[in-house]
Amino acid sequence: MKMHLIAPSVLAADFSCLQKDFDMVNRSQADWYHVDVMDGRFVPNISFGMSIVKAMKKMAAKPLDVHLMIVEPEKYIGEFREAGADVITVHYEACPHLHRTLQQIRETGAKAGVALNPHTPVHLLEDILEQTDLVLLMSVNPGFGGQKFIYQTIPKIKKLKDMIVVQNARTLIEVDGGVGLQNAEKILQAGASVLVAGSSIFGAGNPGKVISMLKSIGREAMMV
Ligand code: DX5
Ligand code: ZN
Repeated sequence: MKMHLIAPSVLAADFSCLQKDFDMVNRSQADWYHVDVMDGRFVPNISFGMSIVKAMKKMAAKPLDVHLMIVEPEKYIGEFREAGADVITVHYEACPHLHRTLQQIRETGAKAGVALNPHTPVHLLEDILEQTDLVLLMSVNPGFGGQKFIYQTIPKIKKLKDMIVVQNARTLIEVDGGVGLQNAEKILQAGASVLVAGSSIFGAGNPGKVISMLKSIGREAMMV
């Protein structure tokens, strides 16, 4: 198993004291910050926009992985990049001209990601993998943290991994929603390389410990 990345989802952080949670993540073994932007149209919830992303950038010592759950994301890519996004992920379901949108993201210098809702099959990405740095598989319906992991995601990860291997692509597979210590190993074994985790990290008594436990999964096996 190759070394995977951990991306704590700040949606589950304490917004009345973000600096404290960012300090914890900065000191932890986490690799990225996962930043959920919701518009109340693509998903039935509103989170925050670029001014908050900009403030987060100042506090973050690690890359910002910005997940846009918004309609017409192509209108805001430049602004999110300027606000500090290092990875920008748009939803397949929100992009009629996905190829153009991914190009637009790469032109800003950010890594380009595509997210799939639980009902969207991975084979739809067959002709766009080369333009895609990361595929985010939603393992809950987007819009809220703290939901239950949808197990059908596991065969989706495997199928996507096979497609990536066949095409010899370098695309990363990120899994988002309901991820925690109880299922992380299965998700990684299926072929994922980035784990997003919100409530299982920030809801824990010792979040830094959960991050290091998530990070060390598979390592023991590699050492023998
Ligand atoms: C859901 C978001 C997720 C969410 C994950 O729409 O995309 O990133 O914050 O939260 P947990 O880990 O609590 O399911
Ligand atoms: Zn997300």
